[in-house]
Amino acid sequence: MTTSVRDLVGPDDLAGAHGLVDQHGRVATDLRVSLTDRCNLRCTYCMPPEGLNWLPTSQILTDDEINRLVRIGVEELGINEIRFTGGEPLIRPGLVEIVRTAKSLSPPPEVSLTTNAIGLERLARPLADAGLDRINVSLDTLDKLQFKQLTHRDRIDDVLAGLVAAKAAGLIPVKVNAVLMRGLNEDPVPLLEFCLEHDFELRYIEQMPLDAQHEWKRDQMITAEEILEKLQAAVVLTPDPAHRGSAPAETWLVNGGPAKVGIIASVTRAFCGTCDRTRLTADGQIRNCLFAREESDLRTALRDGSSDDVIADRWRAATWTKLPGHGIDDPTFLQPVRPMSAIGG
Ligand code: 5AD
Ligand code: SF4
Repeated sequence: MTTSVRDLVGPDDLAGAHGLVDQHGRVATDLRVSLTDRCNLRCTYCMPPEGLNWLPTSQILTDDEINRLVRIGVEELGINEIRFTGGEPLIRPGLVEIVRTAKSLSPPPEVSLTTNAIGLERLARPLADAGLDRINVSLDTLDKLQFKQLTHRDRIDDVLAGLVAAKAAGLIPVKVNAVLMRGLNEDPVPLLEFCLEHDFELRYIEQMPLDAQHEWKRDQMITAEEILEKLQAAVVLTPDPAHRGSAPAETWLVNGGPAKVGIIASVTRAFCGTCDRTRLTADGQIRNCLFAREESDLRTALRDGSSDDVIADRWRAATWTKLPGHGIDDPTFLQPVRPMSAIGG
């Protein structure tokens, strides 16, 4: 048996590796922060209509605790991009100030938000003024009835108003994320036409096994290939010449461009090899992958008086053990215990 350097060194031993490095050579520079596990929608691919047992308030990080971890990430660990997510991040009262604090760090990270846009009509301007750079709005259908079936709430008008407000506030390009569900919203074309008309950048996401109900089935999933075929029946798609880098979305120019459409084929064309993400849950756990089955607790360290250096070291150690891929196609694959709403997208 040969011993590789990877068996001999830990994260602290790697020459010059002060950032979030894993044993497969990836470096995490993009931090996803879940600000709450609660949500005002009930998307069927995420949670049941009755909701979930929400995290108790005492376990949720305070605004100061979040600000501290974000600062450690940026100043000590090389994080240069922060995305706030949920559950639904707009329901967190301190959101605007959390964004402002993140943008005041040096060097200032890119700060974006993934939201269902309920409440964005009112918050888009304050968020833009606080320095928010970009926004991703989750919208799976334009059909009022389908929206209600999919989310168990009659709120599509709030979402549409939020989208308009985001654009007016200059949070551009506004991106729209959509998940297609068999038997519900199978046709990707109407949403594309809507996004082309309004200058929103649309990205379809393959449905992942991250629902609280554990109802995801591989053979039911609408694949990237199926979405592409359906789109190509309506528009001409050509591969986007822009460099993809670590972006999860593969993009195409629509009818010659400049409009684009993207597909995040998390399941059928996994991009784990270029992953640069690290995740913080609302209750202060680091997850090195959406599909990780283990978490590293930073909340206890935050609350027992640990120094920034100790916290940074725990975060590095949590990153080091990141698995090479999510293994959804392995027969031994086990869905993570937490659903998407408690991890953050
Ligand atoms: N599969 C794919 N995407 C999901 N999202 C939530 N749950 C799933 C899932 N099981 C999406 C939301 C949102 C982002 C946070 O992730 O629609 O756009
Ligand atoms: Fe809420 Fe997002 Fe889950 Fe939908 S997918 S229920 S908007 S957290």
